[in-house]
Amino acid sequence: MPIIKPSLHHVTFRTSRLQEMVDWYGKVVGVTVTFQDEHNAWTTNDAANHRVAFLSVPGIVEDPDKFQHNCMHHSAFEYESLDALMESYSRMAGENIKPAFCLHHGITISLYYRDPDRNFVELQVDNFGDWAKSTRWMQVSEDFRTNSIGSFFDAEKVLQAHKAGTDFETLSRDIRQGDYKPDVIPNIGLPEPDAVLRGL
Ligand SMILES: [Fe+2]
Repeated sequence: MPIIKPSLHHVTFRTSRLQEMVDWYGKVVGVTVTFQDEHNAWTTNDAANHRVAFLSVPGIVEDPDKFQHNCMHHSAFEYESLDALMESYSRMAGENIKPAFCLHHGITISLYYRDPDRNFVELQVDNFGDWAKSTRWMQVSEDFRTNSIGSFFDAEKVLQAHKAGTDFETLSRDIRQGDYKPDVIPNIGLPEPDAVLRGL
């Protein structure tokens, strides 16, 4: 029997800080609440009735060793343009919500934010505009084979270059080759960050 493939629909988090999480996802990706009660909430930022939900019953506790435990590393949301990504970066920086780290993956330019529970949320823009091409590039390019995690960059430096009118192709190429590196290479939420960064 062929596999009938369903679409990815929503993510649901266990959390011990319901309102903080609802508010944060509201500020970051613009979710609004479809339904919320004392313990749980279902939110969305598009026409679906829920995309990001939270279960917050008593007994859920903080995990201080999250970066070492089996769990989801991040969810991701995509903008239609670098303009939209950078405008969102600026808006959130004004509210003191700043990325934990930024990576040019070749396929995307991505800002990773840490939610109140230290789950990462990737905000990205696609570099190819064509999933067939980017899929092929991941499969065969030497660039991706030797730098699959990505090139770190400083979002503030990229914002300034973007504001100064550097075109998308030039900016993307230069970020990928490391011209916008941050002063300090951040931990990307893994127990041995150096292991994944070898060769970068
Ligand atoms: Fe991702």
